[in-house]
Amino acid sequence: MDTIHIRGNRRLNGVIPISGAKNAALPLMIAALLTDETLKLTNVPRLTDVRTLAKLLGVLGTDVQRGETAHGDTLALTTPEIVSTLAPYEIVSQIRATFWVLGPLLARCRTAKVSLPGGCAIGARPVDLYLKGLQKMGAEIDLVEGYVLAKAPNGLKGAVIRSPIVSVGATHTLLMAATLADGETVLENAAREPEITDLARCLVAMGAKIEGIGTSTLRIEGVERLHGATHNVVADRIEAGTYAIAAAMTGGEVTLDGVDAETFDAALSVLRAAGAGVDASQGQVRIFRNGERLQATDVVTQVFPGFPTDLQAQFMALMTTAEGESEITETIFENRFMHVQELARFGANISLHGDKALVHGVDKLTAAPVMASDLRASAALVIAALAAEGETTINRVYHLDRGFDRMEEKLSACGAEIWRAKA
Ligand code: EPU
Repeated sequence: MDTIHIRGNRRLNGVIPISGAKNAALPLMIAALLTDETLKLTNVPRLTDVRTLAKLLGVLGTDVQRGETAHGDTLALTTPEIVSTLAPYEIVSQIRATFWVLGPLLARCRTAKVSLPGGCAIGARPVDLYLKGLQKMGAEIDLVEGYVLAKAPNGLKGAVIRSPIVSVGATHTLLMAATLADGETVLENAAREPEITDLARCLVAMGAKIEGIGTSTLRIEGVERLHGATHNVVADRIEAGTYAIAAAMTGGEVTLDGVDAETFDAALSVLRAAGAGVDASQGQVRIFRNGERLQATDVVTQVFPGFPTDLQAQFMALMTTAEGESEITETIFENRFMHVQELARFGANISLHGDKALVHGVDKLTAAPVMASDLRASAALVIAALAAEGETTINRVYHLDRGFDRMEEKLSACGAEIWRAKA
């Protein structure tokens, strides 16, 4: 397996182009199952998760044509007909978003057999909300040998679905299913992460009728059919937030190019509160810190527009060298603290108390061999290593390749000493 090496204690200075969002690109690709015409996506990040999903879509009947541009890949996805409604364990166990094909398959073919999902090991991550929602729309659901068997012999019907908790994946799945259902579906307490908004906008471009985009109530009037469209994937707010935290950690000045500050405002506010400089203008965010030590700042993860759980690990890395004690509360996933023991290897002082981590800032971090445990935790290790004295080796970097497009290239361009050793 490849390893990433970082010689730390260097400031970052420069411009980082932000790629298209992984968590938008994946549901957008799945939306291609809803039409027999071509859905063209631009600004698609170059990631293994995108390739894994493309493989699954190929099995289901989608022709995927990939092109490269300076701003990410272009994917032309065409599904003339669904040739299989079976999403196998071997693929669905690799990334969670592949499970979301359940909605479009059921809507277009009235039947689907989809393996229960895998994905990052950050909690139990059940799928009850997806299944209850689809049942409300008239689907019959059985669980057999690790697979969800779903049938809607008379087609899906519009329904009012109120989710007890906000779920990104259930919202994506039910939103896609509702576009082709008979009648109106109302999704109450829906997720309103920018990636949901991006999917909804693309579905509208494909002919879907959706009201309330960007709010927690989505009203979808089902249509007979959807058509092709071209859609540019929204910028990755988590990638942007990760590099913003890296810049605050190392000091220096970094401009994040091609991302709107509103999509990660909560993270930028916390960085300001900790003492980093943040300037936002149209499509760009500049982060800087010159010399001053950061101050410990508390954070509670929340659904959008709150502080994202996908930046919790990175922010914890930042707080390891801040002055004072910061309390980091994880409310979305019950087991998303696997980075704590790896950060301790750099000399960080963190104690865990249920859903809270208390981080006592130390004067400096020192390099260590560490192991990536999940995607965002890997980014936290990179951030710690960029500030640590000495050379860090990060193992299991396939986690990083799932979600960060050309990370070494982007950080090297800002002066980081980071390189990959091929297996
Ligand atoms: N939940 C249930 N039942 C369900 C669905 C969810 O109890 O049927 C719970 C989950 O266990 C969790 C909470 O609801 O405690 C929120 O989970 P959600 O469904 O919103 O998460 P997800 O759709 O599985 C997506 C992102 C995650 C991100 C979360 C939260 C993608 C591909 N994944 O996951 O991203 O952390 O939303 O914002 O979009 C990542 O990119 O590293 C990542 C993990």
